[in-house]
Amino acid sequence: MKEGITAVCPGSFDPITVGHLDIITRASEMFTKVIVVVMTNTSKTPSFSVEERMEMIRKATAAIPNVEVDAYGGLLADYTRLKQAKAIIKGLRAMSDFEYEFQMSLTNKKLNPDAETIFLTTRSEYMYLSSSMVKLIGSMGGDIREFVPAVIHEDIKRRLSGKDA
Ligand code: PNS
Repeated sequence: MKEGITAVCPGSFDPITVGHLDIITRASEMFTKVIVVVMTNTSKTPSFSVEERMEMIRKATAAIPNVEVDAYGGLLADYTRLKQAKAIIKGLRAMSDFEYEFQMSLTNKKLNPDAETIFLTTRSEYMYLSSSMVKLIGSMGGDIREFVPAVIHEDIKRRLSGKDA
């Protein structure tokens, strides 16, 4: 890996899971700077506000010095250009993720040829994990402790159980 390279980890992060955190941590070991950016996925309706999601990512990544947290409402290709990022990091859980991610990576490459999409294979223990699953289990009173970073577990639990003011 070259020195001084910025990578972007984009996603909905609604909310961030231990699977996301694992990908971000591994990326932080490969790049000089990693920007975790909360973006809009037009096919999803988020449960947490952009500010809430950013705050949860900030807490979860507080111990990783070369990680920054941001939000952007436009195209990922424009964001990578704005930040002069050379890499877009995506986690791949299963073949079912691949077709969609492949299409996005080709489109992003077309829109900004300077940024490469790099796929990191998820750890096998997180293959089943998704933010939607966390929300479903949490909203029905199930235990989400092992699915989300420990520092934000209580925040997420409270919000999903509807016990927030
Ligand atoms: O966590 P997700 O929902 O799988 O992340 C998808 C996300 C937000 C990274 C993707 O929808 C995205 O890049 N949105 C920003 C708009 C954009 O650039 N779309 C892709 C054009 S190919």
